Order: sequence, then structure tokens, then C-alpha cells
Amino acid sequence: AKNVKDEDKLYKYEGVLYSSIMSPQENLKGLENFEARPDDLLLVAYPKCGFNWMVSVIRKIRTASSGQNEMPSGPPLIEFFPPEVQQLAKERPSPRFLGTHLHPDNIPSSFIAKKTKMLVVFRNPKDTVVSYYHFMNNNPVLPNTKSWDAFFTDFMKGEVAWGSYFDHALAWEKRMDGPNVMIVTYEQLKENLVDGVRNISRFFGFTLTDEQVQTIANESTFNAMKESSKNSHGQHGNVFFRKGEVGDWKNNFSEAQSKQMDEEFQKLLAVLV
Ligand code: A3P
Repeated sequence: AKNVKDEDKLYKYEGVLYSSIMSPQENLKGLENFEARPDDLLLVAYPKCGFNWMVSVIRKIRTASSGQNEMPSGPPLIEFFPPEVQQLAKERPSPRFLGTHLHPDNIPSSFIAKKTKMLVVFRNPKDTVVSYYHFMNNNPVLPNTKSWDAFFTDFMKGEVAWGSYFDHALAWEKRMDGPNVMIVTYEQLKENLVDGVRNISRFFGFTLTDEQVQTIANESTFNAMKESSKNSHGQHGNVFFRKGEVGDWKNNFSEAQSKQMDEEFQKLLAVLV
């Protein structure tokens, strides 16, 4: 990735920016025919909303309830699967655990047709953009951002990898009433992780004891995960465990930016009514 020039790191697929290194066109084209299963577990999140946190929670739920230990490595993002891995996925036993940051328009339609259960994670857009800004400068696959102000402007226009936060939010608001869709927010999970773990495990059809739920919640706090990532990820751990707080936006936003974000959100709500 270091040999790729910053300006070549992103490209547009159907109008949405994606990583040319991790999600080249052949991946996204192949996904158009991806065969979802009704018993897949799909985790959906806009970048920086807590995806990796929930990957870890779901893997722990699966391990606790079936005793089976899944391959621990790698993010299960389907858009990172090259065509040959997409082929291999066909042979994986059910239930498969898959995830995606894809723009709602680019999620393989068979997930909808097969009524696959989808856990969708959202986070306050102000904290999301701050987290994303820091991530850009720590991730060799993505271009370095010029400045906070420039990144904020790109984010508001949806000119960032995986597209517009607001497009994602609107699409999922419209789908949230489906019985196969569960929406959780980063803020709810921070507030009460025990309830979060219990609700998520029930949604995916796992039965855990109260003790198991409690243990998973204890192991999944920011500090616990950051600590254990030192063993699994070494230095890379810091890329995914930065602050883990609600409200960090206050350290970055100007008053005008806060107002602009509020107005954009109001516009989105107005479309929904
Ligand atoms: P910050 O940059 O605000 O710290 P994603 O996994 O979707 O890329 O999201 C990354 C964000 O989730 C980062 O936010 C990261 O610190 C936070 N995060 C990771 N693990 C967490 C945990 N166990 N509890 C709370 N936040 C966590």
C-alpha cells in the first residue's frame, strides 16, 4: 500500500468512493452475485461506528454458545474478499458470520431477498467523523488527510471511503422496522453493554446464561479490548483502539461545523417524516 500514491488509493464504484487496494472493482462486481443465506449473521456499520467492537462481541457470543472457536483473524468485511475468497465462502458451513461497511445500494441484494439477519451499528456522526479523521492518518490503505477542516468538508459531501454517512443513515432508518434488522448505537452500547450483548445474542438466536453475558461484556470494554489487543495486534492495536469515548467531537469541532452537522441531520429527519 505504501507504493500506491495517495490520489490512487480511492476510486468510485457506482458513485461511491472505495479503497482501490482493499475493495477493487472486481471484488464489488463479484459481490453483485454473492449468494447470501437466511442463516448468515451480517454485521453492518458505517466506518468508525464500532464495527470491530461488535465483531469481537459476536465472535465471543458464538464461541460461548456453541463452544466452537472460529478463526480469529481478519475483519470479516465482504468487500475485502477477492473473487476467489467469495468462491470459498460458498463452501463455508452455516452459520457464516459476515460484515460490511458497504453503501446500502451496494450490499448484495440476496441479503435482502433471503431475509438474512442484519445487526446495524450507528454512532453519532460527530464522533464518527472525528474517529474517521484520526483513522485516515493511521491507515496506509487510505490517503492521508490534509487537515481536520478539509476532511470534515469531504465527510459532509460524502466524498470519503464507503460514501456518505447520511446516505447510510437514511437507508437504514427506512429498513429498521424489518424483523430481520436490529439497530444498535455506539452510545447505547457504551451506556449498557450487558444489555447490548444480551439483545444481540437473542437477536441472532443464541441462548447465553446471565453469567456468560456478563463475562462477554466485561471482556469487551474499551480498556479490556485495548489491553488484549496488545497481544494480538501489537502496535497496530492503536489504530482500532484510540479513545473509545462518547463526545470526543467537542475537542475537534468548531461551532460552525457543529451547526452545519446539526442542520444536515435535521434535513435527514425531514426526509423521513
Ligand atoms: P475512537 O476513534 O473514537 O476511539 P470501527 O471499529 O468501526 O473502525 O470503530 C472504531 C471506533 O470504535 C474507535 O473510536 C475505537 O476506539 C472504538 N472502539 C473500539 N473498541 C471499542 C470498545 N470495546 N468500546 C468502545 N469503543 C471501542
